[in-house]
Amino acid sequence: MIRVNNDVYLNGQWLPVGEAKVSVEDRSCMFGDAVYEVLRYYDGKPFAPKLHVERMRHSLDAVSIPLPEEFERLPQISDELVRRNAMPHCKAYWQISRGVAPREHEAPAGLKPTVLVMTYEVPPLNVDAPAPRKRAILTPDLRWLRCDIKAVTLLANVIAKTHALRAGAQEAILHRDGVVTEGSATTVFIVRGGVLMTHPLSPLILGGITRATLLELARKHNIPAQERPFTVDQLLTADEVFISGTTTHVGAVTEIDRRTVGEGDVGPVTARLNRLLIEHILATVTQG
Ligand SMILES: Cc1ncc(COP(=O)(O)O)c(C=O)c1O
Repeated sequence: MIRVNNDVYLNGQWLPVGEAKVSVEDRSCMFGDAVYEVLRYYDGKPFAPKLHVERMRHSLDAVSIPLPEEFERLPQISDELVRRNAMPHCKAYWQISRGVAPREHEAPAGLKPTVLVMTYEVPPLNVDAPAPRKRAILTPDLRWLRCDIKAVTLLANVIAKTHALRAGAQEAILHRDGVVTEGSATTVFIVRGGVLMTHPLSPLILGGITRATLLELARKHNIPAQERPFTVDQLLTADEVFISGTTTHVGAVTEIDRRTVGEGDVGPVTARLNRLLIEHILATVTQG
């Protein structure tokens, strides 16, 4: 939960969260006409802010929302908010909508985008913690065909995650035409015969920043890795399955639809990549 005395940044102003108001005619409200980013702060320092800026630029370009005036300064605004809220361990949420206009599908020209930045506290990263074990369910991917855009229209993701939680699981693994795409809010990796596999970059998945970091670490440390589609059957018979994301880091999926994955424990490749990721994040944020 956001603390009531927290500030947020809204369109150039620092405001307590309870006083920050967006018009009911904001296009995010009626059309979900907005894109967002979530990045993680470790002891007051963000991981990979430039990659988040670039992904947000991709999302904005893809939906033709013009870059707001403060776009390049988003990392500094976000850093300042983390300081103001005295929240060194947090996730920062950036959202840019197309702006405010009477409800018509087509947006009038010249709208000023609405820019919102918020922070949410999270526990500090425990360097020695093993990858947590997660239960998952399988569910059809009901999303649109531009999942590479980080759009706030997340209804299909919300439904999938809710089904997972109701089934006593923590994540929903999505599949389309028999192929595993990703999780409701994470990237999905499998390990078969020592080879790491994840869906290739395409409009069917979000280009996860943790995904890119893990693939880079795998290459650097000689863990064979392939970016190629894999089936539901390959998922269910994998030696290891794990999910990744900015706030999840690496989570070992040990059960899918109540069936045990591999040995039912955190596998060796998962454990290694979890360790490498945490070390890499901490080293990167410390160097600035
Ligand atoms: C659908 C989806 N896939 C993957 C991810 C992981 O992306 P990242 O590693 O950039 O957090 C997210 C994160 O929110 C997501 O929502």
